[in-house]
Amino acid sequence: MEKIGVVTAGGDAPWMNAAIRSIVRTAIFNGLKVVGVERGYAGLIEGKTRPLDARSVSGIINRGGTVLKTARCKEIKTEEGIRKAVETLKANKIDGLIVIGGDGSFRGASEIYKVSGIPVIGVPATIDNDVAGTDTTIGFDTAVNTALFTIDRIRDTATSHERVFVVEVMGRKRGFLALAVGFAEGAEFILIPEIKFDTETICRKLKQGRRKGKTSEIIVMAEGAGDSSQIVREIKEKTGYDVRLTVLGHALRGGPPTAQSRILANKFGAYAVKLLLKGAKRRITGIKGEKIVSIDLEYSWQQKKEINEKVYHLSEILSL
Ligand code: F6P
Repeated sequence: MEKIGVVTAGGDAPWMNAAIRSIVRTAIFNGLKVVGVERGYAGLIEGKTRPLDARSVSGIINRGGTVLKTARCKEIKTEEGIRKAVETLKANKIDGLIVIGGDGSFRGASEIYKVSGIPVIGVPATIDNDVAGTDTTIGFDTAVNTALFTIDRIRDTATSHERVFVVEVMGRKRGFLALAVGFAEGAEFILIPEIKFDTETICRKLKQGRRKGKTSEIIVMAEGAGDSSQIVREIKEKTGYDVRLTVLGHALRGGPPTAQSRILANKFGAYAVKLLLKGAKRRITGIKGEKIVSIDLEYSWQQKKEINEKVYHLSEILSL
């Protein structure tokens, strides 16, 4: 192995830059050359590459986003797109590719390996934390803290005005982000796609809470759990309370990475290079407890990650 490629694909996540830095410097330390692919799989298909050296990644560990940029790319799901991507790898004499992204990006990486035989290693990078096999994905911790920073401020005004706030967070079709945010925020309700809920029950419990002296409530809702505006309308109609909606959206994708995200990015990036040097072909980096592990690439995007229902039920108890 003489030269590796690195690409950031799919939705960006805070800390991708920390991972790029770790990959580049670990590779150079081990005598490898590094090629950066710009704009995700779209850039790989178009052949947009540039050499990266130790200085290329100076001053980025604390910056959100990705200096390589990324892009949504439908073409990578086509045979022609995979063929062009492989052509770019071969034209640049890339012996191994590290894909920093989420489960969708790993699906593309799997196709690239199948067609080319070039080893691919995934570094799980998504605020959704929906990659099977790893306890967490880097950037997830930063997104949770970004949400808490904002919801703590919403709680101030909710208390002053005795309002109910529904706060919608990202997470695509899964509830990992909403569950972590709601649990850490002490939300009265957490609405996630994995666990059924109905507004009748929510309203009954809201009224019970008011009878017990609560004067304001926070409801954290995953974007994949339904229409947050509809939930607001229904609660207003059924309770007569003053109910407002805040959608955190893409704010959760930015910002300087937290210490935990940076530490994980440093470790995942270095381990991804080591996996390539050891001859690994289709793996992703991951963490189980305190241990950095490698997971089968196919498993990581094909297996449905389980939600922690114990945390969900404890959050219900703690919000009494
Ligand atoms: O996958 C990360 C994510 O932020 C999801 O939580 C969200 O649904 C999606 O990306 C938004 O995609 P885009 O940035 O392309 O609008």
